[in-house]
Amino acid sequence: ENVQGEIGMEHVTFGYLENQPVLKDISLHAKKGQKIAFVGSTGAGKTTITNLLNRFYEIWEGKITIDGVDIRENGLESLRENIALVLQDTHLFTGTVMENIRYGRLDAADEEVIAAAKTANADAFIRRLQNGYDTVLEGDGANLSQGQRQLLNIARAALSKAPVLVMDEATSSVDTITERQIQEGMDALMKDRTTFVIAHRLSTIRNSDMIMVLEHGRIIERGTHTELLQRQGRYYELYTG
Ligand code: GTP
Ligand code: MG
Repeated sequence: ENVQGEIGMEHVTFGYLENQPVLKDISLHAKKGQKIAFVGSTGAGKTTITNLLNRFYEIWEGKITIDGVDIRENGLESLRENIALVLQDTHLFTGTVMENIRYGRLDAADEEVIAAAKTANADAFIRRLQNGYDTVLEGDGANLSQGQRQLLNIARAALSKAPVLVMDEATSSVDTITERQIQEGMDALMKDRTTFVIAHRLSTIRNSDMIMVLEHGRIIERGTHTELLQRQGRYYELYTG
């Protein structure tokens, strides 16, 4: 199968608890390779949108499609293959750096893993670890910094061939050098993939094809960075505030 990664949401409504919708009538369309950013205050529903795209929950109303096909029609396995995730919590296990990056792509040769680490800007710090790619990570990467764990997450996603990428940006304060490395890694990762990015630092999403501003579960503004600034609405407030 050759998935392009077009994403559609049509009148999606959902809540975690009965009669308490947290997303209301969400409609959007992402063309192949586009970068769609979600911004809005805490609790607005940003993570919930990506939860639904991943089918972690079932929607109440509406539908979500990939390449025009309802995501409920194909199995979860195909969905997992088509969506790469870089989430805020890193999911590292006790094992070597090599094994941690290879996770999910057990067929990948060492060279491919290293190439993915280079794409993610993780190769340099890995080589400085005591045993390089053979360094054993303690439970959930406790012997790494937060920024380094994030770079491993990005490397793992870079190894994935999924045409769709979902990123929930880390809010955490890492040093500016690591932050720049993370940003470069993410940029490389987004290239040629349809990306949903939840941005906490608005500076990182200025170049998005479309920015969605969420408030109380609704998209209240949408447009490019320039369009939204001109509008002087909520995005303008968030950006200048
Ligand atoms: P930040 O990550 O804080 O910026 O917020 P967000 O925009 O990602 O909000 P999110 O989508 O996580 O939450 C939207 C609403 O759903 C909030 O009112 C949450 O309290 C609620 N919510 C999120 N996850 C759960 C859950 O697992 N169970 C329940 N019952 N409510 C949830
Ligand atoms: Mg969130």
